[in-house]
Amino acid sequence: MPSKPVVVVTRRLPDPVQTRMRELFDAEFNLEDRGLTHDELKAAAARADILVPTVSDEIDADIIAAGGDSLKMIANFGAGVDHIDRRAAHDQGIVVTNTPGVLTEDTADMAMTMILACARRLSEGERVLRAGGFSGWAPTWMMGRSLRGKRLGVIGLGRIGQAVARRARAFDMHVHYHNRNPVSPAIEKALEATYWPELDDMLAHVDVVSVNCPSTRETRHLLNAKRLDRLRPEALLVNTSRGDVIDEAALAERLKDGRLAGAALDVYENEPDIHPTLLELENAVLVPHMGSATIESRTAMGEKVIVNIRVFTDGHRPPDRVLFES
Ligand code: 8YV
Repeated sequence: MPSKPVVVVTRRLPDPVQTRMRELFDAEFNLEDRGLTHDELKAAAARADILVPTVSDEIDADIIAAGGDSLKMIANFGAGVDHIDRRAAHDQGIVVTNTPGVLTEDTADMAMTMILACARRLSEGERVLRAGGFSGWAPTWMMGRSLRGKRLGVIGLGRIGQAVARRARAFDMHVHYHNRNPVSPAIEKALEATYWPELDDMLAHVDVVSVNCPSTRETRHLLNAKRLDRLRPEALLVNTSRGDVIDEAALAERLKDGRLAGAALDVYENEPDIHPTLLELENAVLVPHMGSATIESRTAMGEKVIVNIRVFTDGHRPPDRVLFES
């Protein structure tokens, strides 16, 4: 590896991150900030020692193969790595890293914001007002739902899930969760959280569901039509994780015909495309993958990318290496 490795970043990053990367590496950025095509990603991999992609780049086996002998590392800007073919990277001896931890609190803030926005019909109210539909206060107009005393069901009580649960407790919600395995008794106690080994059972019991598990082969369409039907009609569903954990078409159908009261989505199955029905629904709060979009988180994510690259190029194991599990 040359003393200044060629680091190809597929998007624009916050200015301080770009400045530091230029000092440390032979760094290239996509200053136009347009999503690269498959061929452009292949070319990027071919000229890089280290590739820095984001969630908007599908890094498949073809692109990884184009890296040839020179590509040594994929230092993802972001926590989720479902867009990277980790098997192909592993087979080619390429190290993959991510940026966990630094975006936890901001993403949880966004999840809580969305829970509140959905329960209190925030987007709908603003849309009505902007369309000139606010003709004065009325006792029964725009009534939402109170969160106090309600049950939050977290799917995936990991780092971000726990941060969402802490926030929900400040709003006097009761925490329930489903994981493959229960969290430690200390965490359960601190959150006064109830573990549900069976997701189906939890779904039928809660008022708000927050999806916080990663996208994997096992969690794809975890919330399929059958599971969505377990939810009570008053329930709200909030997703700040990955779109494909939910069957988006089945969700849109249920929101439309009133089988489900509301949903707030930050992520979508086929980003940036959104199921057309969702766009027409008043009971859907829709935001464009903004969970970690603060100056603080995005800068900290960039710093993590830099640290991972530095440690790796110094010949050590990078702190945020993602291991491939077959
Ligand atoms: C990031 C995210 O914005 O970190 C993640 O996995 O989903 C987002 O918060 C995105 O991944 C950046 O690549």
